[in-house]
Amino acid sequence: MEISHLKEREEHIEIPNKRKCEYNFEQPNKKIARDGKNSPEIIALAALSDYPQSPINNKKELAITPAEHSAHTEINSPNKKPETSPDKISKTSGCFFPQSPKKRLEFAADSGKQQNKSKEKFIYGNYNQYYGYRNKDKDFHDIRLDMFEEYKDLFKEKQILDIGCNSGFITMEVAKKFEVKSIVGLDIDKHLINQAIKSIIRHKKALPLNSELKRSNKFPFNVTFVHGNYVLRDAVLLEIERPQFDVILCLSITKWIHLNFGDEGLKMAFKRMFLQLRSKGILVLEAQPFDNYGRRKKMTETIHTNYKNMEFFPKHFEDFLLSPEIGFTKVDLMGVPDHCKKGFKRPIQIFYKE
Ligand SMILES: C[S@@+](CC[C@H](N)C(=O)[O-])C[C@H]1O[C@@H](n2cnc3c(N)ncnc32)[C@H](O)[C@@H]1O
Repeated sequence: MEISHLKEREEHIEIPNKRKCEYNFEQPNKKIARDGKNSPEIIALAALSDYPQSPINNKKELAITPAEHSAHTEINSPNKKPETSPDKISKTSGCFFPQSPKKRLEFAADSGKQQNKSKEKFIYGNYNQYYGYRNKDKDFHDIRLDMFEEYKDLFKEKQILDIGCNSGFITMEVAKKFEVKSIVGLDIDKHLINQAIKSIIRHKKALPLNSELKRSNKFPFNVTFVHGNYVLRDAVLLEIERPQFDVILCLSITKWIHLNFGDEGLKMAFKRMFLQLRSKGILVLEAQPFDNYGRRKKMTETIHTNYKNMEFFPKHFEDFLLSPEIGFTKVDLMGVPDHCKKGFKRPIQIFYKE
């Protein structure tokens, strides 16, 4: 597990026209207030302050042992030649059971094995040029940020988790633009997290020595990166989750969790999001539609099996999140980014926790 702080990317920002929410949902722009209650067996989660600090930036504050640290950092990017054997990975992570909140976001042994087998494929959507591709039509400006701008009060002074942060571009932009108190970017791909860490280090180094930013905990000091799998190895681990975030960003990642960890993995991830949110917290969800899954269905055997066995589809996500099994009480449509590529015109929804 690694954490660090990052660097902003200098962008030529093009402000597009205001976007309207015209997405044709099965239940369009529904505002729901239900008595969704948390399932009683589910307890909440660990405090953000319990995350260990970066072994790169702040060795003294490293809260995991060197052995645990090296075990975690040995798992490779799926796109890089593995530096360690799958046996070692599974032995190490198989023995590791999180005993404290500090050690919660560990890798799944299975994901390490899969990465080795399919190292040339981006089986987790862990594209190493994601933002270059996604944002190239907008001069590398991500138009989702314009939508967030319209809801900036949702982010101001908030503690945020960005699940599947890739190389950290959105994480950093949110940290910079919206005066967030803190933001944690989490990704399953260590190589991408390292890229993000390097960016933030560069950004910090560019500051004058006596910068006031550190004391005020403003960007880039409000950003942290963690390498880990958001999908827990066992649902029993949900029992030790505690509320620690005001906002969770879940952007363009549901498909990858779904394909790799199946219906149950995704449902567990949704439960975890709810549990990690404080009262009055929000989940910002940009889910891929099901017709977006097909091209990837044969990437690995596991993905193929999960795909064939799917019974829980994106059209069910909203009802599931609002059901008593999860507990969100209301949903709003934030909007649909007017991306030039149809595949990226995905609705962004806000789910509210009471
Ligand atoms: C398509 S990218 C989306 C990046 C970013 N959220 C955005 O929308 O700009 C999906 C990211 O999710 C990460 N990811 C996939 N499965 C994950 C998991 N189980 N836990 C953490 N990160 C995961 C991938 O490595 C990849 O970087």
